[in-house]
Amino acid sequence: MNLNTDYSIKNVGEQITLNGWVAKVRDLGGVIFIDLRDRSGIMQLVVRPDSACYALASSLKNEYVIKVTGKLVAREKANLNISTGEIEMEVEKLELLNKSLELPFEVSDNTTALEDTRLKYRYLDLRRNSLSSNLITRHKITLAVRNFLDKERFIEVETPVLCKSTPEGARDYLVPSRVNKGKFYALPQSPQIFKQLLMVGGIERYFQIAKCFRDEDLRADRQPEFTQIDIEMSFVSEDDVMSLAERLVAHVFKEIKGIDIKLPLMKMKYDDAISKYGSDKPDLRFDMEIQDITSIFANTEIGFFKSNLENDGIINAVVAKNAADKYSRKEIDKLTDYVKTYKASGLAYLKVEDEMSGSIAKLLSANERTDLINKLNLEKNDIVFIISDKYNVVKTALGSLRCKLGRDLGLINPDDYKLLWVVDFPSFEWSEEEGRFMATHHPFTAPKDEDVDKLLTDKAHCYSKAYDIVINGYEAGGGSIRIHDEAVQEKMFEALELTPEQIKTKFGFFVDALKYGTPPHGGLAFGLDRLTMLLTRTENIRDVIAFPKTASASDLMSECPNVVDDAQLKELGIKIEK
Ligand code: AMO
Repeated sequence: MNLNTDYSIKNVGEQITLNGWVAKVRDLGGVIFIDLRDRSGIMQLVVRPDSACYALASSLKNEYVIKVTGKLVAREKANLNISTGEIEMEVEKLELLNKSLELPFEVSDNTTALEDTRLKYRYLDLRRNSLSSNLITRHKITLAVRNFLDKERFIEVETPVLCKSTPEGARDYLVPSRVNKGKFYALPQSPQIFKQLLMVGGIERYFQIAKCFRDEDLRADRQPEFTQIDIEMSFVSEDDVMSLAERLVAHVFKEIKGIDIKLPLMKMKYDDAISKYGSDKPDLRFDMEIQDITSIFANTEIGFFKSNLENDGIINAVVAKNAADKYSRKEIDKLTDYVKTYKASGLAYLKVEDEMSGSIAKLLSANERTDLINKLNLEKNDIVFIISDKYNVVKTALGSLRCKLGRDLGLINPDDYKLLWVVDFPSFEWSEEEGRFMATHHPFTAPKDEDVDKLLTDKAHCYSKAYDIVINGYEAGGGSIRIHDEAVQEKMFEALELTPEQIKTKFGFFVDALKYGTPPHGGLAFGLDRLTMLLTRTENIRDVIAFPKTASASDLMSECPNVVDDAQLKELGIKIEK
């Protein structure tokens, strides 16, 4: 099959045949120009009034499907914006393969059609170059991944989609069983348990481009069904897995973008990421670290600082350099509302002008003012944003504000890629909702050797052998060394407050497997969709998936989910509550 962009000025004189869609027809004083679109791009076709196919050509409308044969000639006036811009085809034979209704929106990369309309007619949306080229990039990424991992002696193994619940922290999608009425399969949130069982099975190096399903609240970078590049290896340390994974990422960046990623990637401890960037996925494309200014206010008379400090609070700041003149009162009120969505009680600010101005300028003591200027290296026209609250609130709110300021002030170079590992995650996170500690990653993540004894007694200070790879503020992948010792796994389940009965029914088969010579093992999974988003520079995950779901987890094209026949429900023994 030949595509439009297979041809260039080198092919002038050749007689060729092309297939595609009519993207545009122009009648310029009797000569008809047609833009023929295929997956690769556009070829200009020329039909002259004396041609046998002139009548047919003049009846063509947008999106008709045609086949043309003719000779390639050099254009009188080249269009150097497209790769076929120096040539055109003098059409000798034209065949209409199919007509098209008028489209609900124009097939154009500058389309103004609403996303919902484009999703309803996704098959038409896919004709737009920006979407099809994303799918081509996605294909190239998976190909590069498969080639790299094959060379590293990994084998691709498929694991079941109808399975028992795998705990990755989201809700399961359930599938009722007809044969076993009243029983359900769960769709895998990831192949986690299976890949570990493959290690017990002696496979040693596994990977899979795996579909995962999670019923969770959707965001711009989350879909209910998404794809992982899932990897597991036996006889490895944290460094071994990270080294393999970063070489894989470097290979993909080189293949897809021609970019050299400098290895090894930097590693940042989780606690430092939270402290400096207020996030476990810091965007390092710009600085603006969060700075701790609590000690400057140890003896403060500023009322709300004082009362926060008395309640174990902290005071932190971010400084936007040379930006004071960009923030009016109104703008700052908007930022205050913004940090309130992250539970901060307020946002104080200082502008460095001839005098210090801003919400707390008049309340500062002379010492506090001097200490702030020195500690934060303040210069004229800097603006300081300050939050005083509990540790987690301060870090999260300032971390989010930092990213917003970075975007709003244009501090991010759009061509930049900043990659890092975040390591040494805590094993557990306190859940306010559940009123208990939950696994930060999943229950199979190995604790640091020195923390095994603390699993039941000091959960707040247990750290794990987990690592996340972060690219431009996105969690592109994550994994860990696993627990391979049955006793430690039981202890971990106990730490997560599973009863012996629950452990037996949920994970009995898995704990049993660990008793039969399980090798030490570990791995990780990349989000293929997120990696593709990063490499295609889109912030919308739907742009890299052929048939995605909306934010309410539905497919507008096929109208799914939808009701099913009563007969189907009856067969499954299911009654719907009205
Ligand atoms: P985790 O849950 O961190 O780990 O998932 C791995 C990677 O998958 C991507 N991801 C998603 N992408 C799109 N939509 C979603 N809803 C979504 N959820 C996750 C992210 C994430 O980094 N079994 C472990 C891996 C392991 O330990 O080996 C796991 O699934 O890029």
